[in-house]
Amino acid sequence: MKGPLVVTVMMVKLFIFILITRHSSQDKNGNHKVRIPTKPFWAKLVPSISYWNRQQQILDLQNNPVLAANYSTAGMPDWLNDTSLISNPCQPNFRVTTQVKDYNSLPNRFKDFLLYMHCRSYPIMVDQPNICKEPPFLLLAIKSLAPHFDRRQAIRQSWGQAGVVANQTVVTIFLLGNASAGDHYPDLTEMLHYESARHKDIIQWDYRDSFFNLTVKEVLFLEWIQTRCPGARFIFKGDDDVFVNTYRILDFLKGLSESQAKDLFVGDVITNAGPHRDKKVKYFIPESMYTGTYPPYAGGGGYLYSGDIAARLHNASQQVALYPIDDVYTGMCLRKLGLAPEKNKGFRTFNIEEKYRSNPCAYKSLMLVHPRTPQEMIQIWAWLSCPSLNCQ
Ligand SMILES: *[C@@H]1O[C@H](CO)[C@@H](O)[C@H](O)[C@H]1NC(C)=O
Ligand SMILES: *[C@@H]1O[C@H](CO)[C@@H](O)[C@H](O)[C@H]1NC(C)=O
Ligand SMILES: *[C@@H]1O[C@H](CO)[C@@H](O)[C@H](O)[C@H]1NC(C)=O
Ligand SMILES: *[C@@H]1O[C@H](CO)[C@@H](O)[C@H](O)[C@H]1NC(C)=O
Ligand SMILES: *[C@@H]1O[C@H](CO)[C@@H](O)[C@H](O)[C@H]1NC(C)=O
Ligand SMILES: *[C@@H]1O[C@H](CO)[C@@H](O)[C@H](O)[C@H]1NC(C)=O
Repeated sequence: MKGPLVVTVMMVKLFIFILITRHSSQDKNGNHKVRIPTKPFWAKLVPSISYWNRQQQILDLQNNPVLAANYSTAGMPDWLNDTSLISNPCQPNFRVTTQVKDYNSLPNRFKDFLLYMHCRSYPIMVDQPNICKEPPFLLLAIKSLAPHFDRRQAIRQSWGQAGVVANQTVVTIFLLGNASAGDHYPDLTEMLHYESARHKDIIQWDYRDSFFNLTVKEVLFLEWIQTRCPGARFIFKGDDDVFVNTYRILDFLKGLSESQAKDLFVGDVITNAGPHRDKKVKYFIPESMYTGTYPPYAGGGGYLYSGDIAARLHNASQQVALYPIDDVYTGMCLRKLGLAPEKNKGFRTFNIEEKYRSNPCAYKSLMLVHPRTPQEMIQIWAWLSCPSLNCQ
């Protein structure tokens, strides 16, 4: 532990030295007086008013040896030295009820999220441990919900058919949580067992499948890839109400250079966004939860990335506090890696113009269109699979 610290401290000193020398050489009047900075170049951490930001400050400190070293000598303020969560992260954390100032007036989904925000591991109930025995060229991972049997079946019969597609190996899996009686879902356990035995493409974890828990699905999936499918070259992750032109995606992937392939992360990228403060919006986030803008992120309808990025995201996610909106969270993890998703016009998460929707040729050059019903998926796939489809 001492060795790396000494090195980091030396590097900080070197950086200050460079700052000083740069300052002196920038003087336009030929006056080479050395100006020594009067303050350290990092700011003392002050607690954010927002709970997520404070949790991130704690994580940043834990993962930054330079800052941590400074605090170990000076003594850490209580709000930063919050070790009580580390020992039992999956027990409900009732201290949020006082640490988030308007906790009691927040909608229930926020209360549920905050109580379990530190829990990242849930038992796997249905797994497919050998599904990637032959590492696939493309892994299609579709976020689904237990009752959506028809969507999953339409995907299997159309764009998500596993096996060899356009001469490349494709593996399809569906990512599920638990649609439980507590949320008034009918008990579908046996039907799900049948489906899973029949198709062997269901992955299910035992946590409550809700909108704000999609980030839990994301971190569990990143973990799953590393244990069950680390050899996948590329990964598509998306919703079960989109149409994916798998032919076009495979074609696009085959055309990438090695370096493009390594750092690939493409989708329908949203930039300069921030939290909605209007309570009526689905994506509403109160100030007591988050302040700041969002990093660039790819809309959660579907995006495509490399297996290499998946491994890096898995690491980065351990240093980013869970955020209730999953696609924003993935953007935060990419930013942690110093990366940004790339916008690709083939991803149409906001649909295409109505007049083109029943034109087979409109789909030929697209990679994803949202939303589509199960019947539409099968129809569009039939169009695209027809050898006589002729689009100039
Ligand atoms: C680091 O420690 C010094 C000396 O104790 C202190 O003056 C400074 O404010 C500390 N920096 C931070 C970021 O806390
Ligand atoms: C953090 O708090 C614990 C007790 O709550 C204390 O023993 C420890 O020294 C503190 N750590 C730092 C770095 O201040
Ligand atoms: C399909 O893959 C095989 C083995 O990689 C290769 O020999 C063949 O040329 C490919 N066919 C096409 C149509 O790309
Ligand atoms: C998961 O959902 C099923 C079906 O509603 C329910 O029987 C089971 O108890 C749930 N598991 C947990 C741990 O809540
Ligand atoms: C997420 O899942 C956990 C485990 O089932 C549950 O306790 C929590 O309430 C869920 N959170 C939300 C926001 O639904
Ligand atoms: C992930 O982190 C581990 C441990 O710090 C490291 O050994 C590994 O190289 C990292 N993997 C990637 C892909 O960054």
